[in-house]
Amino acid sequence: MTEIRETAAGADSRIPHHVAVIMDGNGRWAQKHGVSRLAGHNAGMLAMKEIIKRADVMGIRYLTVYAFSTENWKRSQEEVGGIFSLLVKYVGSELAELNENNVRVRILGDWSRLPAPARASIEKALAVTADNDGLQFSIALNYGGRQEILRAVRNLCARAASGEIEAAAVTEEMISDALYTGKENGCIPDPDLIIRTSGEERLSNFLLWQCAYSELAFTDSLWPDFTPDEFETMVKAFGNRKRRFGGR
Ligand code: IPE
Ligand code: IPE
Ligand code: MG
Repeated sequence: MTEIRETAAGADSRIPHHVAVIMDGNGRWAQKHGVSRLAGHNAGMLAMKEIIKRADVMGIRYLTVYAFSTENWKRSQEEVGGIFSLLVKYVGSELAELNENNVRVRILGDWSRLPAPARASIEKALAVTADNDGLQFSIALNYGGRQEILRAVRNLCARAASGEIEAAAVTEEMISDALYTGKENGCIPDPDLIIRTSGEERLSNFLLWQCAYSELAFTDSLWPDFTPDEFETMVKAFGNRKRRFGGR
């Protein structure tokens, strides 16, 4: 069970341990400004950069962002290709600074299906930041919550079939361990808070197992307009909420 623990900031114990963000609204922002959807995604990258910095300053331990869902392949080839090109561009321009700031980068999702240049950038980002113990920054890329659970189920079934584990003895913890947020990525705790921008109030297949007791917060701001100050305000408001975890 996740709890609010002592943070790097120390001073404010109400700062959540893990904040996850559904970065939505790049397309609507682009439309509003009469620019291409890709220009919207580029503006979204700039917003993300600032949110990472603020999360770090605030003493948040884990920041996870939803960048590309398993359903986002339904978009035009041009948009999908453009998003992955932006990833390559972003890693190229920002990796050194992330590393200097002791940020560790992780990827949640099946990134083996991404174009080769994107895979090369990811490999580099993972390798360069592998020893960093500052902000644990995870990017959900070609990520889907149901697919993640399905993959865990298959993994556990295979282990049961081989006799390594007993089917009747499968626990919640074993399922958690077999998710992208599990052992393969150092056991990332469940998110305390999930923020979604752009006025949509749904999870869109994000962290379905992990969100069981997450607080949910929504804002009408389109992702490129979402500022570090608004992020900080939302995170602090969360700190005043009473979480019960089923107790009274
Ligand atoms: C979020 O912005 C980024 C991705 C899903 C890749 P959108 O592109 O979904 O923006 P809207 O929802 O069309 O405004
Ligand atoms: C969710 O946004 C995925 C990401 C932010 C990467 P979408 O824009 O894809 O979600 P829907 O289609 O509005 O549910
Ligand atoms: Mg959207």
